[in-house]
Amino acid sequence: MSENDKELTIHVVATNDAMVSNLQQVFSKRPGKKPIVYMTRVDHELRLNRINLEKDNILIIDSEKISQFDIEDMALLHKERIHPYIIYLASSWTENQLIDLMRVGVNEIIHLPLNGSSQDLLDAIERIQKRVNIAVSSKPKGKIISCISSKGGAGATMIAINLAYLLSQKFQKKILFIDLHLQYGDSSYYLSDTIASSNVAEIVTQPYLNSVTIAASAIQVADNLYLLPSSNSIEKSSNIQADHIDTLLTVAAYEYDYVFIDLNYVLTSNSIRALDRSELIYIITQPTLAYLKSLVNLLGVFSELSYPEKKIKIVMNKCDVDAALPIEKVNEIINRKVYAEIPFDLSAVDESINAGVPIVKMFHLNKVSKAIEALANFTEGKNLVEKPESMLSQIFHLNKG
Ligand SMILES: Nc1ncnc2c1ncn2[C@@H]1O[C@H](COP(=O)(O)OP(=O)(O)OP(=O)(O)O)[C@@H](O)[C@H]1O
Ligand SMILES: [Mg+2]
Repeated sequence: MSENDKELTIHVVATNDAMVSNLQQVFSKRPGKKPIVYMTRVDHELRLNRINLEKDNILIIDSEKISQFDIEDMALLHKERIHPYIIYLASSWTENQLIDLMRVGVNEIIHLPLNGSSQDLLDAIERIQKRVNIAVSSKPKGKIISCISSKGGAGATMIAINLAYLLSQKFQKKILFIDLHLQYGDSSYYLSDTIASSNVAEIVTQPYLNSVTIAASAIQVADNLYLLPSSNSIEKSSNIQADHIDTLLTVAAYEYDYVFIDLNYVLTSNSIRALDRSELIYIITQPTLAYLKSLVNLLGVFSELSYPEKKIKIVMNKCDVDAALPIEKVNEIINRKVYAEIPFDLSAVDESINAGVPIVKMFHLNKVSKAIEALANFTEGKNLVEKPESMLSQIFHLNKG
């Protein structure tokens, strides 16, 4: 480990005192400077609430046999959004147990009894430490943006794809568009008829994900714009874990100016991890009661997740549709400002989807395209008009020009 590396704190929960002394001996020759915290189980239970695992920790759990209580305890950590690196020591396991352990975030499983030098365990710690140091030393340049519907079909994918396309063409930004739908990801229909050679589920589960793997797996759909489609196999998608999403985003943000994530409105631990990592979240909604009620629920969840308000931007799609609620009513329901408004144009939007060409390219003077262009300018920090508060007035300015 070099001087600048960040050293993780190791916490051990051992089955008994004999194992504590065994591990103390193993670690006595380790070069790390931070003291290691040793504990034993209480009545066979881990009692993880005794340990402060908030930041930068490796948790080593020693078990006689894998118990459901351990799995539940580790799952609880995830629920509380605490993510230590976990090394699990066990003498045997079944394939199902292995999957369960990985699902609750176990990074390494080591066979007991430890071999003479306990090299397996020391190597596992070294691997985790290396991963952390790569993440710390790489200065991500990219901005991660998630797009999510407040309820299915609000227009999130249509807007996200067109936004990404504009940023890649007008501002020459290098963009990776990741479709994180577990099933029925449809982003590729908007842009390309190329069948992807790979997908998110296949690449994130590879042991050493790097930018070359991403580049080789993504479809290039335009200059500077790359698309990583979702897997159509639910089974494969369900192998994706929150840790995988983390690694994918860390690697991608290092290589691309923008990483767009197209998310399903039903939240999962994976999508929450993607949202946690996003600098900006565009929630796409519509001015009708059903969409707005779902929006209020989603905003409630985001507030429980302690997301700052400035991270969340509301995009009102089909803002001028006949059935739209009046703006006063919308404001009363959501009690928040709408950041951007995108008008309704069924034939132009559908024609562009049918052709697999972004509407901003196919009909660049169309009102929908102009509104998305205004949103792209905002995203890039280029406010074209003096008063930024009304996106709709901006759209009309642009249309006149
Ligand atoms: N501004 C618009 N004007 C007209 N039609 C639109 C507009 N935006 C979206 N649509 C229509 O709504 C449909 C759904 O849009 P989209 O697939 O982007 O929604 P989504 O929020 O991503 O849905 P899902 O929840 O299924 O992922 C599109 O196929 C398109 O026909
Ligand atoms: Mg979609």
